[in-house]
Amino acid sequence: MTPYPDKVRLVEVGPRDGLQNEATLVEPAVKIKLIQMLVDAGLQYVEAGSFVSPKWVPQMASSAEVLEAVRGYGDAVYPVLTPNMVGLNAALASGAEEIAVFAAASETFSQKNINCSIDESLERLKKVAQTALAKGLRVRGYVSCVLGCPYQGEIPVSEVARVALALADIGCYEISLGDTIGCGTPLQAQAMVQEVSEHVAVEHLAVHFHDTYGQGLANLLAVLPLGVTVIDTSVSGLGGCPYAKGASGNVATEDVLYMLHGMGIETGVDLNAVIRAGSYISEQLGRPAASHLGQIETLAG
Ligand code: HMG
Ligand code: MG
Repeated sequence: MTPYPDKVRLVEVGPRDGLQNEATLVEPAVKIKLIQMLVDAGLQYVEAGSFVSPKWVPQMASSAEVLEAVRGYGDAVYPVLTPNMVGLNAALASGAEEIAVFAAASETFSQKNINCSIDESLERLKKVAQTALAKGLRVRGYVSCVLGCPYQGEIPVSEVARVALALADIGCYEISLGDTIGCGTPLQAQAMVQEVSEHVAVEHLAVHFHDTYGQGLANLLAVLPLGVTVIDTSVSGLGGCPYAKGASGNVATEDVLYMLHGMGIETGVDLNAVIRAGSYISEQLGRPAASHLGQIETLAG
């Protein structure tokens, strides 16, 4: 019997994580078209933006306009990041149905990214989550730096588990474990997910692997047999975090689809349609597609 799942759900983070680090502002119309192409390809969870401070992340300043334009398009869910009550209230005003709250397992990264300690952020997010849940929204959680921090280096897995459990306790239905700088290797990723799943059931965990060191697919292969069935990916491998210098994008949606489909794992997503979405956004950004599959033109037809 194969140790791999029959089916995996992808959470497409390209329009948020992928674009948040772009120096040149991407027009809302381009983001909207990208999101619609991704939904047309069969992706049912597409992060549409971030209600964070525009001074901290200027690229996400158009998130209200983008969310208002795409919500209701197809059957997809459009989560948006909200770091605090200001962000939540703005997301609610734009009709958000799902939010994502984000914390870190590294104290220094937390300070650099959201200007407060881990414990302060958990306290703040508790109120955000409670308010969102009371209004009928779903709340997803992120833990950053689960396999290493750009400032502190190694991070104890016990700290990752503590923060993941705290997010589950405030009502997050799913906790996405972020290798923010893509430095983890397969056995390390496996050991981390194994330990965290002793505190938060694996059915409530997702993985969010950046591919800076080219370990993304290998890390996924290492954690899938543990029961992980939700993977965050980014079209054309776009992305990075503005507060993790040098970190590259998430593992590319196209490459993950190719691997999963080749293993007989269902996703409900049309690979060629995602390749076309990747070509579209790469053209708009004026550079070649960063996914392996996007570079094989014949597949896209
Ligand atoms: P702060 O400066 O401590 O905030 O920033 P503040 O509460 O003191 O407010 C300062 C000003 O910002 C005020 O305006 C607020 O109204 C405004 P002023 O009175 O000066 O005119 N403000 C806001 N404006 C819009 N939306 C808001 C908001 N909040 C306050 N939500 C804050 C704290 C959290 C706001 C800031 O640090 C921030 O926005 N950080 C966001 C950083 C970020 O977006 N990072 C990338 C996303 S996380 C990520 O990529 C990792 C992930 O992919 C997983 C992984 O890979 O590991 C998820
Ligand atoms: Mg990320």
